[in-house]
Amino acid sequence: MTPEDTDAPAPLLCLRGVVKRYGGVVALDGVDFDLLAGEIHALLGENGAGKSTLIKVLGGVVRPDAGTIAIDGQVVTVHGTADADDRGIRLIHQELSLAPNLSAAENILLGREPTRLGFWLDRRRLEAQAAALVDELGMSEIGRVRTRVGELSIARRQLVEIARALAVRARILVLDEPTASLSQHEAETLMARLRHLREQGVGIIYISHRLEEIQRLADRITVLRDGRNVGTRDAGSVDRDELVRLMVGRDVSATPPRPPWNPGPVVLSVEDLHAVGVNGVRFELRAGEVLGLAGLVGSGRTELARALCGLAPIRSGRIAVDGRTIVPRSPLEARAAGLVLVPEDRKGEGLVMTGSVAYNLALPWARDWIRGGRVDRRRRAGIVERAITRFGIKADHPERLVGTLSGGNQQKVVVARWMEHPPRVLILDEPTRGVDVKARAEIYSVLGDLVARGIAILLISSDLPEVMGLSHRLALYRDGRIFREHPADGVDAVEIMASLVGPGDDQDP
Ligand SMILES: Nc1ncnc2c1ncn2[C@@H]1O[C@H](COP(=O)(O)OP(=O)(O)OP(=O)(O)O)[C@@H](O)[C@H]1O
Ligand SMILES: [Mg+2]
Repeated sequence: MTPEDTDAPAPLLCLRGVVKRYGGVVALDGVDFDLLAGEIHALLGENGAGKSTLIKVLGGVVRPDAGTIAIDGQVVTVHGTADADDRGIRLIHQELSLAPNLSAAENILLGREPTRLGFWLDRRRLEAQAAALVDELGMSEIGRVRTRVGELSIARRQLVEIARALAVRARILVLDEPTASLSQHEAETLMARLRHLREQGVGIIYISHRLEEIQRLADRITVLRDGRNVGTRDAGSVDRDELVRLMVGRDVSATPPRPPWNPGPVVLSVEDLHAVGVNGVRFELRAGEVLGLAGLVGSGRTELARALCGLAPIRSGRIAVDGRTIVPRSPLEARAAGLVLVPEDRKGEGLVMTGSVAYNLALPWARDWIRGGRVDRRRRAGIVERAITRFGIKADHPERLVGTLSGGNQQKVVVARWMEHPPRVLILDEPTRGVDVKARAEIYSVLGDLVARGIAILLISSDLPEVMGLSHRLALYRDGRIFREHPADGVDAVEIMASLVGPGDDQDP
C-alpha cells in the first residue's frame, strides 16, 4: 500500500498492483485503483481492457495472481462471493447471472427468502416483498415478479439483476454495463437511484461504454488499457475526446455517419402482423435503406424481430420478401428467404459459447468450406481471418473459446459472422450492446458498406443517438406496434423520447 496522508481517511477501497493472467493472456497487468465512500467512480476502457476481470477480482470471483486489496485501509483477501457479500461488496455482472428457472421475485431475494416456521419458503411474502422493492426502485418495467426469469427479455433480466443487487445495503456497489440493454428512460431511473445511494455514502464503481452517461454520472473516471490504469481524472475536468484518446490512443468520431440514402425497390413488406407481443405491425423496407425501430424496454421490438425470423409463431398478417409471401417457421427458413436476425441475446441465441471463435464465425458458411464432404481448411481460415481483422476481434488465437472473450468482443463475433455473405434483409437487435467506441465505429462503417450494396437493414437499438444517427427512417414503437414513422433527418431527440414514453407512463399497465 502507498502511505496515505495521515489526516485523510483511508479510501473505502484501494487496489494495488493487481495482476491476473489467463495462460498467455495478461488480463490485468498491475492495476492501481481507489474508490472513496460516497463516490461514483467510472471504469472505462476498450473491449478486453480488463474491466470485468478487475471487478471479478474485487468480488472474489477470480483470484488475482498478485497485488493487494484494502478495505478501509486493511488489506483483505476476498474468498469467493459469499465473503464479498459479508464485506458489503455487491456486484452486477455484465453477463447476467440469474437463475432462469426461478421467478423474478426468487432471483431478487435469493438467499434471503422469507420463510414460514423457519424453513418453508413463504411464497406469498416473497412475492409481496419483491414487488414492493421493485416498486420502490421505480422498476415497474420488470412486470409481474412471479414470471420465470427465463421468459423475460434481456432488458428486463438486467433490471432484475439490478434489483437483486440493490435489495440489500451495500458499502461497495459495482455495476458492469448495467445499462447496455436499457433505453434512456430506464437508464435515467437507475442513475437517479445511484445518486441517491452515493449521498448515503455508498462507493460505486460503474462500467459503461456510454460516454455521455458516464460524464453525467461519475465523480471520477479511470481508464484501463491493456490491463493497466492509464489515468484517473475528475469527471468535471475531462472531455469526451480526451477519454477516447486515453482509451484507444486516437480520435474516434462520436456521431454515427448516416449512410447515403439511395433506396431501391421494396424488399421486405409487413402487413398487419400479429404474434406474441406484436399487435398489428405494418411497414415497408427498401433495398439500401435503414429503418430504425425506437422504443422503450418492453415495447416489443425484440418480439417483432423474432416473429420475422421464424423464432416466434405468427398469428396473422403477411410477411413478403421481394413480393413473395413467406411464413418462416425457423431461422433457417427465414434465412433461406433472405432474412437474418443478429440477436440481442448473444449468450442464448447468438453464439455457441462452448465453440471457438473460428467455429462461430465459420458456422453459417459451412457450404463454402465443406466441399464434397471434405473440409477446405484454407477457405475456412480465410472466412475467419477476414471477420477477425475487419472487426478487430481481440482474441489471441482463432481457436480460443468464444465464452472466454470479453463481452464486447463476443458481440463483435455475433455481428461479424454474417458479413461474409450478407442476406437481403439484416435485422440487428442491439448490435452495439457492450461494444467500445472504436468497435462501434467499425460496426457503423460495415453497416454503411452493406447499405451501399443494397442490403436492407432493420435496426433495433436502445441507444437513441445511434438509432437516430444511422437510420434513414424512424419507426416509433410502443405496445407492439409502430405508432409513428418519419424521416430520421432533423428529428429532435427530446421529442422522440417524450413520445416513446407516451401518455400515462407513471401508471402501471
Ligand atoms: N476465463 C478466461 N479465460 C481466458 N481469457 C480470459 C478469461 N476471462 C477474460 N479473459 C481475457 O482477459 C482480457 C480482459 O477481459 P475482460 O472481460 O476483463 O475485458 P473488459 O474490459 O471487461 O471488456 P468488455 O468491454 O468487452 O466487457 C480479454 O483479453 C479476455 O479475453
Ligand atoms: Mg466486460
